[in-house]
Amino acid sequence: MKRVLVTGGAGFIGSNLVFHLLEHQPGIHVVNLDALTYAGSAMNLEGLPDSSRHTFVRGDIADRPLVKRLLREERIDTIVHLAAETHVDRSIVGPDAFIQTNLVGTFELLEAAREVWLLEGAVPPDETRFHHVSTDEVFGALEPEDPPFTEDHLYRPNSPYAASKAGSDHLVRAYAMTYGLRVTLSNCSNNYGARQFPEKLIPLLIMNAVEGKPLPLYGDGMQIRDWIYVDDHCEALAAILRYGRPGAAYNVGGGNQVTNLDLVHTLCTVLDGAIPQSPHRPHEHLVAFVPDRPGHDRRYAMDIKKIRSELRWEPRETLESGLRKTVAWYLANPDWVAAIREQPTYREWLDRNYAERRAMP
Ligand code: NAD
Ligand code: DAU
Repeated sequence: MKRVLVTGGAGFIGSNLVFHLLEHQPGIHVVNLDALTYAGSAMNLEGLPDSSRHTFVRGDIADRPLVKRLLREERIDTIVHLAAETHVDRSIVGPDAFIQTNLVGTFELLEAAREVWLLEGAVPPDETRFHHVSTDEVFGALEPEDPPFTEDHLYRPNSPYAASKAGSDHLVRAYAMTYGLRVTLSNCSNNYGARQFPEKLIPLLIMNAVEGKPLPLYGDGMQIRDWIYVDDHCEALAAILRYGRPGAAYNVGGGNQVTNLDLVHTLCTVLDGAIPQSPHRPHEHLVAFVPDRPGHDRRYAMDIKKIRSELRWEPRETLESGLRKTVAWYLANPDWVAAIREQPTYREWLDRNYAERRAMP
């Protein structure tokens, strides 16, 4: 891996991965292709460790001529594909963009890689790698007593987002089997950490708590997620890129299965400690139950035996230590928070998602 194309590198996990790669892999150059949708921001790339080894390109993964040009001109040998529409609630309100980017966009990227790497032979095939970043949501929901998802679990996606990611996983596998593209896949659980867009639960709760606004929990708050701190996910991705077997899929999870209600309690305790002068302490008083998400998956959990034994990767952070770092980041970056809070489209989204919930019986 010498010249890496990261797609979606101005988003949450993508930007954390770009920081990680530049910091820990001195020999590589990163080309970062991102369309800068509402979820991506140039602010996420401020302060990169060695920006001379980073090239930012604003563009769409579905623009095949652009991707082919980048693969050729930048002599890319590795693609790490993160660009996607990622918010489940938005996929329920408007699935079109999810099908376009997650399914059609992934197809266009695969075709560009096939044409430039396999048909033109621009890079020796055994030096190439297409890594696809996916989600635990493709497997559907677990019952309380079910064992965690293994890599062989049946695909049973329940939201338009999950179905679009499942489709993209299948395309990636098909390109490996049919054309011999050297691929790896990873399916990861819920991430949290610095620079996560505050439509997702944890940053939304942090920003609302700081302002003394309600902390909305969907339904009964008893849904279970397996939370992973984003730096742990980035380390897992780096391990797969270096040592992962071509053709293999790896499950990645944080080993932190909690209900949303327990999560919000832990987060409120962390916030109480981090902002002792806040008039909104104890923050737990702000919790408000709101009508549920349609088709809301009850539980996800990841079996990480494979990546642990094959690649010697383990998550480092506990839920509490990761939440402390995350809260500290949001408190230390008021300009980032203010820039998002002032976006009209962000305010429109909050109005739409939460006002409609209040109006429901
Ligand atoms: P994000 O929404 O924060 O960022 C997505 C990025 O993709 C943005 O920068 C956006 O501008 C870019 N993008 C969107 N459409 C594009 C297009 N057509 N062309 C180019 N760029 C485009 O997402 P995230 O939470 O960082 O997730 C990144 C990847 O990881 C996604 O593939 C997601 O499915 C996967 N994933 C996320 C989580 C999680 O908990 N956040 C967990 C498992 C897997
Ligand atoms: O599991 C991995 C997935 O995690 C990723 O593939 C997705 O891209 C990412 O968005 C995330 O999906 P979730 O739907 O699990 O994340 P979200 O932060 O939206 O919600 C987490 C849980 O909290 C979920 O059970 C829904 C609930 N929730 C969410 C919001 C935004 C609430 O109770 N209240 C809220 O206001």
